[in-house]
Amino acid sequence: MSSADFILKGGLLLLPTGHVVGDVAVSGGKIVAVGDVGEAKGEVIDCTGLALMPGAIDTQVHFREPGLTHKEDLESGTRAAICGGVTTIFEMPNTDPTTTTAEALRDKLDRAEGRAWCDYAFFVGASKENIEDLPLLEMMPGTPGVKMFMGSSTGTLLVDDDDSVREVMKHGVRPMPVHSEDEARLRQRKAELPENPHVRLHPDARDAESARLCTERLINLVRETGRPTHILHISTKEELPLLAAAKKEGLPVTCEVTPHHLTLNADRYEDLGSFIQMNPPVRSEDHRLAIWQAVKDGLFDVFGSDHAPHTKEEKAKPYPHSPSGMPGVQTLLPLMVDRALRGELPLEQVVAMLTANPAKLYGIEGKGSLAPGFDADIVAWDLEGSREVSQDWLQSKCGWSPYEGKRLRGRIDHVFVRGHHTIRNCELVGEPSGAKVRFDWK
Ligand code: DOR
Repeated sequence: MSSADFILKGGLLLLPTGHVVGDVAVSGGKIVAVGDVGEAKGEVIDCTGLALMPGAIDTQVHFREPGLTHKEDLESGTRAAICGGVTTIFEMPNTDPTTTTAEALRDKLDRAEGRAWCDYAFFVGASKENIEDLPLLEMMPGTPGVKMFMGSSTGTLLVDDDDSVREVMKHGVRPMPVHSEDEARLRQRKAELPENPHVRLHPDARDAESARLCTERLINLVRETGRPTHILHISTKEELPLLAAAKKEGLPVTCEVTPHHLTLNADRYEDLGSFIQMNPPVRSEDHRLAIWQAVKDGLFDVFGSDHAPHTKEEKAKPYPHSPSGMPGVQTLLPLMVDRALRGELPLEQVVAMLTANPAKLYGIEGKGSLAPGFDADIVAWDLEGSREVSQDWLQSKCGWSPYEGKRLRGRIDHVFVRGHHTIRNCELVGEPSGAKVRFDWK
């Protein structure tokens, strides 16, 4: 066995098959051996007492570059990612301009080079104007595929009628993430809002029926077209039986849940106001509890953050002029690990839903496992430690989090991105070393 560049020694490896103490050897940015690993040319990093997992993959973030970089940019967003143990992000196309052409995608890839702290890929946005281009756009390097908004949210992207949705679904083969809220109903409900509404009306304006109806339409179109479809940020108890039935039927449907919908409820509009306004909304406790149960039952494939930063000034505008969305890329993994350490969910499931599952769903090459041959994207946790969600830890340009002041169980001590040591003893070190994600989806 040739000697490795460096070795992580004596950590508790969080493998899908169980938790075992062992070493991990890294060479050329890849894991080359696990368990009995031989010698290191370079550093031996003592991981005694630390738990090692693959870097988390967040398949839904909005990083606002180009066009809205006063809220976030690719450097600050990816820095927030690695500080929260996320070593790969998929970024959404509702920037300004939207990522709806080859040129716009190439521009994002150019902007990320040398500035991204974690690995990245950028979704192409479906619009009614680019449907014919989608088969070629989804094959470009650096994209996980096409994202579709069936209900309008931040930005201008929208494909709302069944005929157009069907055409989008027929113009491509890769799994397609969808924002599922029924646009016609959203418009009707918004028009019925009283004058000067309180933000607590947000879950009524974008009501549960808007989400249920759209998800039902979407599942029918999956049955008709066969297009693999990934339904984002599920927010209602009514969608859960639809998703369970679609999966049971063998339709190519997968789904995501966010920590926001699992840890916040509508009572929080009273203290956090429009700071927890997002689309689809955070809803009443009965929805939250039903979604938790569905996570425990194994309905959900992945956790995603839907990191959607807006400045405090923007958020402070009176509803409904306040923009929707909350930051979350940095708190995604820590919040879910905290819940696991409190005994609410097996740690193995948290790890799988943020590593192996998204890697499999999108056909990501070389990520999502601590096995030899995989990228050395590794997060080392002190599971006995804890971390306060505080201003000095948060990295997003927006400068706030709905979880500020909360103490979370578990502390991230080290993060490696393809072997680059980027968090060392809880401190950000080194240079941005992110690269485009590779896919083997064909
Ligand atoms: O609340 C949201 N904010 N939901 C979305 O779908 C978009 C996001 C944003 O980009 O601000």
